[in-house]
Amino acid sequence: MTNGLTAAVIGCGAIAQNLHLPGYHKRADVGRIIGVDPEPARLDEVRAAFRVDATYADYRDLLARERPDVVSVCSPNVFHAEQAIAALQAGAHVLLEKPMALSLTEARAIAVAAEAAERSVMIGFSHRLYRGNQKVKALIEAGTIGAPFMVRVRFAHNGPFPGWAKSDWFYDPARAGGGALLDMGIHAIDLCQWFVGPITAVTALMATLRKPIQVDDNAVLALTFGENALGYIEVGWTSGPGFLGYEIYGDEGSIINDYTSLRVCTGTSTPDLNAGVEMAWMVEDDAPCTGGWPVEVDHFLDTLQAGGSFTMGLPAGTTALAVALAAIDSAQNGRRVDVASMV
Ligand SMILES: NC(=O)c1ccc[n+]([C@@H]2O[C@H](COP(=O)([O-])OP(=O)(O)OC[C@H]3O[C@@H](n4cnc5c(N)ncnc54)[C@H](O)[C@@H]3O)[C@@H](O)[C@H]2O)c1
Repeated sequence: MTNGLTAAVIGCGAIAQNLHLPGYHKRADVGRIIGVDPEPARLDEVRAAFRVDATYADYRDLLARERPDVVSVCSPNVFHAEQAIAALQAGAHVLLEKPMALSLTEARAIAVAAEAAERSVMIGFSHRLYRGNQKVKALIEAGTIGAPFMVRVRFAHNGPFPGWAKSDWFYDPARAGGGALLDMGIHAIDLCQWFVGPITAVTALMATLRKPIQVDDNAVLALTFGENALGYIEVGWTSGPGFLGYEIYGDEGSIINDYTSLRVCTGTSTPDLNAGVEMAWMVEDDAPCTGGWPVEVDHFLDTLQAGGSFTMGLPAGTTALAVALAAIDSAQNGRRVDVASMV
């Protein structure tokens, strides 16, 4: 790609205004920014706040009249697949918010469109771009804690609406495709697979415990990673402040990242973990959430310009979606679901 890129953002709500538009706005190599949203108020907001040169109410008009080099898809989940496919067919690289689609059929169609157009897709798995999570990935790959055998993740907050999202689509099954499990769980699932490896089976519980909504507001997933590791994930939309982050236990050490500090413990211990152990907790990073959203567009554009491929690309998005859909199936039908057979 050359200088003077045209970047389009489809869906100009909260994540567009907090991540994608500021990301393109600060880049000297982005010459033109286009916003798309059916709500005139959103377009007014982004015209005022960012260097938005043109706006459209419908993405089809954008793609008929403009030739964007890159497109961010930031609309409600149900629109992700059709908009990503249309953008790819129009010749754009796509930064696609999570979840990438609502079904594996849609996910495969995005992959087919990307291959046919010879364009790339990066999934918005922003947790991978936190400095702390990148350190954890490097520590695991270096064998610092040995082979992981157990991972525990808790990602919960008080829910996206009101307070974050510009409308209540998150709580509408038709537009969201699911609740806290799909929304928060997909980040947790992706991190688990990035750190430990493919999830092969899942058993899940989900419930609507507190909010008067039609989708789940809390969920628990029990994970199997082949023969050698287990894990569990808790997600929620009804939580005040509490533990947020994950723990990973390996044969030769442990990692705790509570998203305010990243601590690592290595060495050997006696069976009862008494005081004589040769282990010590070290603070590896006291600001592990540096990075993330502010660097996501840079990562997207810099990787494209370097001709590289995305680790958070279509395979990562598709396999995370498969696990999330398997978990929903498990919770709805009361059974353990084999993921390996789905992808
Ligand atoms: N990566 C992350 O950490 C993260 C965080 C928040 C949201 N997200 C994802 O971003 C997406 C948007 O979430 P949000 O929080 O910005 O919600 P939001 O409600 O604030 O914004 C969605 C916007 O899309 C617009 N819209 C509705 N229908 C549309 C259509 N057919 N075409 C184009 N735009 C349309 C709405 O008017 C609204 O402005 C979701 O997929 C969500 O999962 C990701």
